[in-house]
Amino acid sequence: MSIRTYKPRRGRVTPRQAAALGIPDGLLIELGRPGFSLEEEWAGRPVIMEIGFGTGAATAVMAGQQPDHGLLAIDVHTPGIGDLLHRIRSAGLTNVRVMEADALEVLRSMIAERSLAGVRTYFPDPWPKARHHKRRIVTVEHATLIGSRSAPHAIWDLATDWAPYAEQMIEVLGGHPMWEGGPVERPAERPITRFEQTALDQGRVIADLRYVRSPA
Ligand SMILES: C[S@@+](CC[C@H](N)C(=O)[O-])C[C@H]1O[C@@H](n2cnc3c(N)ncnc32)[C@H](O)[C@@H]1O
Repeated sequence: MSIRTYKPRRGRVTPRQAAALGIPDGLLIELGRPGFSLEEEWAGRPVIMEIGFGTGAATAVMAGQQPDHGLLAIDVHTPGIGDLLHRIRSAGLTNVRVMEADALEVLRSMIAERSLAGVRTYFPDPWPKARHHKRRIVTVEHATLIGSRSAPHAIWDLATDWAPYAEQMIEVLGGHPMWEGGPVERPAERPITRFEQTALDQGRVIADLRYVRSPA
């Protein structure tokens, strides 16, 4: 079994989250659903994958800003899945699908090569201890996997409040043949989540990075 990029967390599910999780309206896609394709699910619209959306606060706002795009939002944390489902139904969004799964497994088993129009990884778990660095999601191996599922010119947006992780991202993606880019100004469309606000309150600096899938 490969190393997990997420921390095991106890997930107390509130009644509202449980209700949201139980509605069978097709917004929650199960891992390995037979016949699944981005093309079919979003009727040919460009699709962006968000890896690790937390409570989905940014996901729902950004999906509302881009009704012409599909958004496949993936996390492993059950309460957050319930939160995002509640948010997208309350906002009447039809362009978001949600998965409770390891996004790396979804990429490997459900996403066709060169099919994603974009990827978002906002505040991935920083794994600060040196012995845990192998658990970070931004590694050469994962950059190759994400690159293989991304269409030419697809955009991978990342943000982190952990300066040494930003450095790792720049080192990994800056030296990777599939990706071109680097640090950017904070994109105006990315809303501040509670997670980010806490980091700002604690005096940490946020790094935004943008990489484009090279056409080759
Ligand atoms: C630090 S939180 C940030 C959440 C959110 N992006 C935000 O800005 O508030 C990182 C999230 O990534 C999720 N995560 C980590 N590895 C993952 C993976 N392989 N697949 C899906 N989600 C993952 C965790 O469960 C967690 O919710």
